[in-house]
Amino acid sequence: MNSKEVFTLSTLLTRSPLFHPAGPHRPSGLVGETTYLLELTGCRYPWADHLYRTMRDLYWKPDDVNLVADHAQFVQLAPVEQETYLQTLGFLIYLDSIQIQNPAWVSQYIAAPEVAACLVTQAFFETIHAQSYDHLLSSIVDGTTRDRVYRLWRDHPVLAARNQELVRPYEVFHQTPTLEHFATLCFSDVLLEGVYFWSGFSVFLTLAARQQMTGTAQLIRQIRRDEQQHLALYVQMIRMLREESPRIFTPDLETEWAALARAAVTHEIDWIAAITGGQFPGLPLERVTTYIEWLANLRMKPLGMPPLFPDVGQNPMPWLDRMGDMNTGKADFFEQAVVNYQDDLDFSGL
Ligand SMILES: [Fe+2]
Ligand SMILES: [Fe+2]
Repeated sequence: MNSKEVFTLSTLLTRSPLFHPAGPHRPSGLVGETTYLLELTGCRYPWADHLYRTMRDLYWKPDDVNLVADHAQFVQLAPVEQETYLQTLGFLIYLDSIQIQNPAWVSQYIAAPEVAACLVTQAFFETIHAQSYDHLLSSIVDGTTRDRVYRLWRDHPVLAARNQELVRPYEVFHQTPTLEHFATLCFSDVLLEGVYFWSGFSVFLTLAARQQMTGTAQLIRQIRRDEQQHLALYVQMIRMLREESPRIFTPDLETEWAALARAAVTHEIDWIAAITGGQFPGLPLERVTTYIEWLANLRMKPLGMPPLFPDVGQNPMPWLDRMGDMNTGKADFFEQAVVNYQDDLDFSGL
């Protein structure tokens, strides 16, 4: 049966048996019945085969980055810079830690093994990111400070409240794995990967623009490049759902997603305001607000959704992209016009 004809918002996704000889040789869609057999040649979604290989080829080791100079420089930063640095890490540690778990759980419901391969590869790279933050903290601050940063996710009242809220779509899906909840989980991942992380990176890239904490920035650039692959993955999954199950994209769902994105923007702005008080050099609150709204607009574009903040058309901090780019001279995919992914799409520039 064609998934387009049978799947509705309330369709409950199920996992196929691990030994499933009666299953389809190739999956009929992103979700549905599967044999789990990973046969990349001739697979249903060549973009996923390509993305998996691209992610794999970006393997890197955080401990290769020397942080001796960052250790010496950290104590010379202004107190607001030190605290913003640490508290931003506190948030990113939590995000990467839950992203180690989520993709692997979600992959159990994916019918296309090549897409599941992307998800478990993502989970592996999130482990590298979490290791990077550990490398930073163990190299730069003492054990007492490191312990404090590792507990911010639950000890800082603003952070704890937003963390509890941001995981809700994931928990809702795990409790009731409907197609609607799956789609909303994918959208939440776009916000997590493409708004929260990007906003957090702005702290480290702003320091690096002043030649401060440049070892940290080197780690952040590598993490950022990986997050671009993860963004591409969730954008593609949503595009596949839109093609295969267009009926689930109701006006109500799109309204719910817009509200989720607006809440994400508000929470991120409140968080930056709470940790910097608007006193971080280079990141005044007005500029940060515009940047986060611009990021949200940017993430809506490849999903075919209208901008949430139509008055915000320009990136107020274009230098961040230059500071954050591992591949100078190549534009960020998500700043370009909507691209219809082709089978031979080259992700290497992302
Ligand atoms: Fe990550
Ligand atoms: Fe990620």
